[in-house]
Amino acid sequence: SDEELEARIFAAKETLGDRVVVLGHFYQRDEVVRYADFVGDSFQLANAARSKPQAEAIVFCGVHFMAETADILARPDQAVILPNLAAGCSMADMADIDSVAECWEQLEALYGTEPDADGRVPVIPVTYMNSSAALKGFCAEHGGIVCTSSNAATVLEWAFERGQRVLFFPDQHLGRNTAKAMGVPVELMPMWNPRKPLGGNEAQELEDARVILWHGFCSVHKRFTVGQIEKARAEFPGVQVLVHPECPMPVVDAADAAGSTDFIGKAIAAATEPTTFAIGTEINMVNRLAAQYPQHRIFCLDPVICPCSTMYRIHPAYLAWVLEGLVRGETINRIRVADDVAVPARVALERMLAARP
Ligand code: 13P
Ligand code: SF4
Repeated sequence: SDEELEARIFAAKETLGDRVVVLGHFYQRDEVVRYADFVGDSFQLANAARSKPQAEAIVFCGVHFMAETADILARPDQAVILPNLAAGCSMADMADIDSVAECWEQLEALYGTEPDADGRVPVIPVTYMNSSAALKGFCAEHGGIVCTSSNAATVLEWAFERGQRVLFFPDQHLGRNTAKAMGVPVELMPMWNPRKPLGGNEAQELEDARVILWHGFCSVHKRFTVGQIEKARAEFPGVQVLVHPECPMPVVDAADAAGSTDFIGKAIAAATEPTTFAIGTEINMVNRLAAQYPQHRIFCLDPVICPCSTMYRIHPAYLAWVLEGLVRGETINRIRVADDVAVPARVALERMLAARP
């Protein structure tokens, strides 16, 4: 029962004390978030993973790429545990190292490798945090960097200082929305098409490009529409529409503001007058904000309840299982990134952490 699980999790946490730290992403369900020592967005959780040197184990209630990142940033003797190994991210799976390497080869053939008069190389690869460790390593090896949704503009500025163009993967929407907000015209952001060999118009499009977008997307955020925003505005005049930058560009353009999960939470916390907020992000987080701020009316733009199905795979039963394993001295579901991938991936992550917040 829920009560039994609660008692088991609290008992295991008490026995383990400072030896374990439980991290939870904002999209985790309430039944999991209540056990987290720290709840945050992916950037904050990457930092949190590093800020607990006393913990022998970091139990990451989130998805696979987040646990990989924690393992890369944690001390080598700290074990990072993902309670359910099936908690992946469909967007992260949309870019694999072989396809990105093939794309890179073709871009090198098109642009060459020589820097321009200002010392800027032809292309800088930028990967969204929502990607495999191998892709983070690929970025470091080719002069690139990682970004999250909370620092994407800062990271793109970093990249444009060093490169004439950016290859951005896997999320086309975050890449397009961020570059557009920085003044890059949408026409200069072609999407890489792996099925079309280079030549003709594509080559010219790519020649002029400032940002080359990968074709990935988030299956949760692509559900939000301009129609939903129009409906919310008609029903609730004065509504504030806040969306995640993984939403399609027309949705971000029609919203009042776009930002990371942490940005959305802070925007609501800052409202001094009772306000209606229509939110374009994952439902568990929206419902939690609604319960946390009863003085506001807070609802999800999408009327069909749509959680991130992989975040949802972290159930308290898995949490109890891995914590009790630690009590017995067993490390269950450890996420380990091999050194040949972790070392370069760490370089790309360190570049991100060092870029201005
Ligand atoms: P944040 O970086 O805003 O936490 O987002 C992570 C994520 O997976 C959004 O879909
Ligand atoms: Fe991946 Fe989307 Fe889930 Fe975030 S919300 S973890 S991008 S599938």
